Amino acid sequence: MSQQDLIERLFEEQFSIAPHLLCHAPGRVNVIGDHTDYNDGFVFPAAINYGTDIAASKRDDMSVNVYAHDCDQESTSFKLDQLKFDEEKMWSNYVQGTLQALMTVYPDIKGANIAVTGNVPQGAGLSSSASFEIAILKTFAQLYELDLDGITAAKLGQKAENNFVGCNCGIMDQLISAMGQKGHAMLLDCKNLSFEDAPIPSNLSLFIVNSNVKRGLVDSAYNLRREQCEQVAKHFGKSALREVTLEQLEADKSIIDLELYKRARHVITENTRTVSALAALQNNDIESLSALMKASHASLRDDFEVTTKEMDGLVEIIDNVIGLNGGVRMTGGGFGGCIVALVPEEMVTKLTEVVNKDYPEKFGLAATIYNCKASQGAFR
Ligand code: GLA
Repeated sequence: MSQQDLIERLFEEQFSIAPHLLCHAPGRVNVIGDHTDYNDGFVFPAAINYGTDIAASKRDDMSVNVYAHDCDQESTSFKLDQLKFDEEKMWSNYVQGTLQALMTVYPDIKGANIAVTGNVPQGAGLSSSASFEIAILKTFAQLYELDLDGITAAKLGQKAENNFVGCNCGIMDQLISAMGQKGHAMLLDCKNLSFEDAPIPSNLSLFIVNSNVKRGLVDSAYNLRREQCEQVAKHFGKSALREVTLEQLEADKSIIDLELYKRARHVITENTRTVSALAALQNNDIESLSALMKASHASLRDDFEVTTKEMDGLVEIIDNVIGLNGGVRMTGGGFGGCIVALVPEEMVTKLTEVVNKDYPEKFGLAATIYNCKASQGAFR
């Protein structure tokens, strides 16, 4: 049964009527450019064929009733004019926060009955929460015929995370979930939100591997990285690290705390690599892409310090198989979760075998492999 059929059936079970509409928003994988979005930098994500599905219908009062199939089949109910952080059902805060943000633009919306399911693994760095937020926004936009565009939706989703959930994330995840293009990755300039779609060559697979070490983004570690970046920008009297050059950073190396210097060096060099990755992909120059992804992983490991030994191990295992025929690196926020590889289709079988054998041998854990396709965003 497809996820859409499943959610339609679950909605009927919960609310004893057929839903008015079904809605889908994808998760994402980031090919290159991590921890750059909140520095006004560049990212290069793709929406994937895993996501959040919602079945919903309107109500004519202010109540929102939600059944979350994958959150232990829990339900919650709240009123739009009485939103309150839920200490027990964390998932409820994504819905409440998103609706609070939506009401800053559309104060007149009313409630809804909602059933939700998703197949983006939670806490794996593939943006299950952003896909949830964008699916909620798309649902309400359709239910109430709002003229909500994808960029605004992305900003509202980010606002929900920043102001309600408590994660100071950037805009990458929400924007690609809303605006991704089937078969393409997107070079996004997070300073002005302009973007360029880049076709992923049809012989390349988006091979994603979950290290199955769970991560929590709300973890203070993510917010701390962001603060550190802001401190260095402030040192240079700039609004964001995007405005600081490598030369300027090097010139002040001796007067900047070494850890802060390394954080900034990651961001500045990652921006350059990310822009170069667009050209490499467009020219089908896989050797260059391979080198850029390798350097990105090393920088996230050594300078930004957001990888784990399991992620480093997976990258090494995959790199040994693909060499210069593809690229591999960690993806997303880090501290556990997934790695991403762009690999020739004909290497996928071999790679799957090697990962399934070597990873458990080295780390005593099974890996989960997602062979993904770049998919369409919810607002595209
Ligand atoms: C998380 C955040 C994004 C981004 C990445 C790291 O996914 O939600 O905004 O900062 O980490 O690139």
